[in-house]
Amino acid sequence: MTFPISRQGLEQIALALAVGVVLFGVLALLRWRRKDDYRRFAISAGIIAALAVVALIIGYTVAPNIPTPPVPLTARQANCAICHGIAGRGDGPAAFTLVPRPVNLQLHVPQHAPGELLYWISTGIPGTAMPAWGDIDPSTGKPKLSEEERWSIIRYLQALSRGETP
Ligand code: HEC
Repeated sequence: MTFPISRQGLEQIALALAVGVVLFGVLALLRWRRKDDYRRFAISAGIIAALAVVALIIGYTVAPNIPTPPVPLTARQANCAICHGIAGRGDGPAAFTLVPRPVNLQLHVPQHAPGELLYWISTGIPGTAMPAWGDIDPSTGKPKLSEEERWSIIRYLQALSRGETP
Protein backbone atom coordinates (compact mmCIF):
# COMPACT_ATOMS: atom_id res chain seq x y z
CA MET A 1 0.00 0.00 0.00
CA THR A 2 1.20 3.48 -0.69
CA PHE A 3 0.35 6.27 1.70
CA PRO A 4 -1.97 8.64 -0.17
CA ILE A 5 -0.06 11.81 0.68
CA SER A 6 3.58 12.72 0.29
CA ARG A 7 5.92 14.22 2.86
CA GLN A 8 5.89 17.42 0.83
CA GLY A 9 2.09 17.45 1.02
CA LEU A 10 2.19 17.11 4.79
CA GLU A 11 4.81 19.87 5.02
CA GLN A 12 2.48 22.15 3.07
CA ILE A 13 -0.41 21.30 5.41
CA ALA A 14 1.83 22.07 8.40
CA LEU A 15 2.77 25.40 6.80
CA ALA A 16 -0.90 26.34 6.25
CA LEU A 17 -1.60 25.43 9.89
CA ALA A 18 1.37 27.55 11.02
CA VAL A 19 -0.25 30.54 9.29
CA GLY A 20 -3.37 29.80 11.35
CA VAL A 21 -1.31 29.69 14.54
CA VAL A 22 0.15 33.13 13.78
CA LEU A 23 -3.30 34.54 12.91
CA PHE A 24 -4.97 33.30 16.08
CA GLY A 25 -1.89 34.19 18.10
CA VAL A 26 -2.06 37.80 16.91
CA LEU A 27 -5.81 37.95 17.59
CA ALA A 28 -5.28 36.58 21.09
CA LEU A 29 -2.52 39.14 21.70
CA LEU A 30 -4.69 42.03 20.49
CA ARG A 31 -7.57 40.94 22.71
CA TRP A 32 -5.23 40.48 25.67
CA ARG A 33 -3.88 44.02 25.19
CA ARG A 34 -7.44 45.34 25.12
CA LYS A 35 -8.07 43.30 28.27
CA ASP A 36 -10.77 41.30 26.43
CA ASP A 37 -11.26 37.58 26.85
CA TYR A 38 -8.35 36.24 24.80
CA ARG A 39 -8.38 32.65 25.98
CA ARG A 40 -10.54 31.17 23.23
CA PHE A 41 -8.14 32.52 20.59
CA ALA A 42 -5.12 31.30 22.50
CA ILE A 43 -6.65 27.81 22.79
CA SER A 44 -7.45 27.80 19.04
CA ALA A 45 -3.84 28.75 18.27
CA GLY A 46 -2.68 25.91 20.53
CA ILE A 47 -4.92 23.34 18.86
CA ILE A 48 -3.83 24.39 15.38
CA ALA A 49 -0.18 24.24 16.48
CA ALA A 50 -0.76 20.69 17.77
CA LEU A 51 -2.26 19.69 14.40
CA ALA A 52 0.77 21.14 12.61
CA VAL A 53 3.05 19.06 14.84
CA VAL A 54 0.97 15.93 14.09
CA ALA A 55 1.26 16.59 10.33
CA LEU A 56 5.06 16.90 10.65
CA ILE A 57 5.32 13.79 12.82
CA ILE A 58 3.40 11.74 10.22
CA GLY A 59 5.51 13.27 7.46
CA TYR A 60 8.77 12.32 9.10
CA THR A 61 7.93 8.89 10.56
CA VAL A 62 5.76 7.19 7.93
CA ALA A 63 7.96 9.10 5.51
CA PRO A 64 10.16 6.28 4.11
CA ASN A 65 7.00 4.68 2.73
CA ILE A 66 5.81 7.90 1.17
CA PRO A 67 6.69 8.17 -2.50
CA THR A 68 8.09 11.62 -3.10
CA PRO A 69 7.40 13.48 -6.36
CA PRO A 70 8.26 11.52 -9.48
CA VAL A 71 11.81 11.63 -10.82
CA PRO A 72 12.42 10.83 -14.49
CA LEU A 73 14.39 7.72 -15.42
CA THR A 74 17.26 9.83 -16.68
CA ALA A 75 17.68 11.76 -13.43
CA ARG A 76 20.70 11.41 -11.13
CA GLN A 77 23.49 9.02 -11.96
CA ALA A 78 21.02 6.13 -12.11
CA ASN A 79 20.62 5.91 -15.81
CA CYS A 80 17.71 3.53 -16.00
CA ALA A 81 17.01 4.91 -19.46
CA ILE A 82 20.16 3.34 -20.96
CA CYS A 83 18.47 -0.03 -20.69
CA HIS A 84 14.78 0.73 -20.13
CA GLY A 85 14.40 3.69 -22.49
CA ILE A 86 13.33 7.21 -21.52
CA ALA A 87 9.66 6.18 -21.39
CA GLY A 88 10.41 2.74 -19.90
CA ARG A 89 9.36 0.90 -23.04
CA GLY A 90 12.44 -1.35 -22.96
CA ASP A 91 14.01 0.42 -25.92
CA GLY A 92 17.09 2.08 -24.41
CA PRO A 93 20.30 2.13 -26.47
CA ALA A 94 21.77 -0.79 -24.48
CA ALA A 95 18.55 -2.82 -24.49
CA PHE A 96 19.34 -4.58 -27.76
CA THR A 97 22.54 -6.06 -26.33
CA LEU A 98 20.85 -7.56 -23.26
CA VAL A 99 19.58 -11.10 -22.72
CA PRO A 100 16.89 -11.09 -21.48
CA ARG A 101 15.73 -7.80 -22.97
CA PRO A 102 14.19 -5.28 -20.53
CA VAL A 103 10.39 -5.55 -20.60
CA ASN A 104 8.03 -2.69 -21.33
CA LEU A 105 7.74 -1.13 -17.86
CA GLN A 106 4.61 0.79 -18.87
CA LEU A 107 2.85 -2.59 -19.17
CA HIS A 108 4.60 -4.38 -16.32
CA VAL A 109 4.65 -1.80 -13.53
CA PRO A 110 0.84 -1.78 -12.98
CA GLN A 111 0.95 -5.59 -12.61
CA HIS A 112 3.15 -5.43 -9.53
CA ALA A 113 2.78 -4.15 -5.98
CA PRO A 114 4.89 -1.06 -5.18
CA GLY A 115 6.82 -3.06 -2.58
CA GLU A 116 7.68 -5.68 -5.18
CA LEU A 117 9.04 -2.99 -7.51
CA LEU A 118 11.06 -1.51 -4.64
CA TYR A 119 12.50 -4.95 -3.91
CA TRP A 120 13.59 -5.49 -7.52
CA ILE A 121 15.04 -2.03 -7.89
CA SER A 122 16.85 -2.37 -4.54
CA THR A 123 18.25 -5.89 -4.93
CA GLY A 124 18.42 -6.22 -8.72
CA ILE A 125 17.15 -9.19 -10.70
CA PRO A 126 19.48 -12.22 -10.69
CA GLY A 127 20.22 -13.67 -14.10
CA THR A 128 19.55 -10.33 -15.82
CA ALA A 129 21.50 -7.09 -16.26
CA MET A 130 19.23 -5.30 -13.77
CA PRO A 131 21.58 -3.79 -11.15
CA ALA A 132 20.87 -3.60 -7.39
CA TRP A 133 20.37 0.11 -6.70
CA GLY A 134 20.15 -0.41 -2.94
CA ASP A 135 23.74 -1.72 -2.85
CA ILE A 136 26.39 0.40 -1.21
CA ASP A 137 28.49 2.38 -3.65
CA PRO A 138 32.09 1.92 -2.43
CA SER A 139 33.10 5.40 -3.60
CA THR A 140 30.49 7.19 -1.47
CA GLY A 141 29.69 4.61 1.24
CA LYS A 142 25.99 5.20 0.56
CA PRO A 143 23.41 3.22 -1.43
CA LYS A 144 23.61 3.93 -5.18
CA LEU A 145 20.10 5.33 -4.85
CA SER A 146 18.60 6.24 -1.48
CA GLU A 147 15.32 4.57 -0.56
CA GLU A 148 13.56 7.87 -1.16
CA GLU A 149 15.07 8.14 -4.64
CA ARG A 150 13.99 4.58 -5.42
CA TRP A 151 10.41 5.41 -4.36
CA SER A 152 10.50 8.57 -6.49
CA ILE A 153 11.39 6.51 -9.54
CA ILE A 154 8.57 4.05 -8.78
CA ARG A 155 6.19 7.00 -8.56
CA TYR A 156 7.40 8.10 -11.98
CA LEU A 157 7.01 4.64 -13.50
CA GLN A 158 3.47 4.41 -12.12
CA ALA A 159 2.60 7.81 -13.60
CA LEU A 160 4.03 6.73 -16.97
CA SER A 161 1.88 3.59 -16.91
CA ARG A 162 -1.21 5.71 -16.29
CA GLY A 163 -0.37 7.60 -19.45
CA GLU A 164 0.77 10.73 -17.62
CA THR A 165 4.07 12.40 -18.39
CA PRO A 166 4.88 14.08 -15.09
C1 HEC B 1 22.16 -2.40 -17.35
C2 HEC B 1 20.79 -2.31 -17.78
C3 HEC B 1 19.72 -1.87 -16.76
C4 HEC B 1 19.72 -0.73 -16.01
C5 HEC B 1 20.77 0.38 -15.95
C6 HEC B 1 18.48 -0.75 -15.25
N1 HEC B 1 17.77 -1.90 -15.54
FE1 HEC B 1 15.97 -2.46 -14.76
N2 HEC B 1 16.07 -4.24 -15.71
C7 HEC B 1 17.04 -4.58 -16.62
C8 HEC B 1 16.78 -5.94 -17.11
C9 HEC B 1 17.60 -6.70 -18.13
C10 HEC B 1 15.62 -6.38 -16.42
C11 HEC B 1 14.99 -7.79 -16.51
C12 HEC B 1 13.94 -7.87 -17.57
C13 HEC B 1 12.71 -7.17 -17.09
O1 HEC B 1 12.05 -7.66 -16.18
O2 HEC B 1 12.46 -6.06 -17.61
C14 HEC B 1 15.18 -5.27 -15.55
C15 HEC B 1 14.06 -5.29 -14.75
C16 HEC B 1 13.54 -4.18 -14.10
C17 HEC B 1 12.26 -4.15 -13.40
C18 HEC B 1 11.28 -5.30 -13.26
C19 HEC B 1 10.25 -5.22 -14.36
C20 HEC B 1 9.32 -6.42 -14.39
O3 HEC B 1 8.12 -6.20 -14.22
O4 HEC B 1 9.81 -7.54 -14.62
C21 HEC B 1 12.12 -2.87 -12.92
C22 HEC B 1 10.94 -2.32 -12.12
C23 HEC B 1 13.31 -2.13 -13.29
N3 HEC B 1 14.14 -2.96 -14.01
C24 HEC B 1 13.53 -0.81 -12.97
C25 HEC B 1 14.75 -0.16 -13.18
C26 HEC B 1 15.06 1.15 -12.66
C27 HEC B 1 14.11 2.01 -11.86
C28 HEC B 1 16.34 1.45 -13.03
C29 HEC B 1 17.17 2.69 -12.71
C30 HEC B 1 17.30 3.02 -11.31
C31 HEC B 1 16.82 0.31 -13.81
N4 HEC B 1 15.83 -0.64 -13.86
C32 HEC B 1 18.07 0.24 -14.39
C33 HEC B 1 18.13 -3.82 -17.02
C34 HEC B 1 18.50 -2.60 -16.46
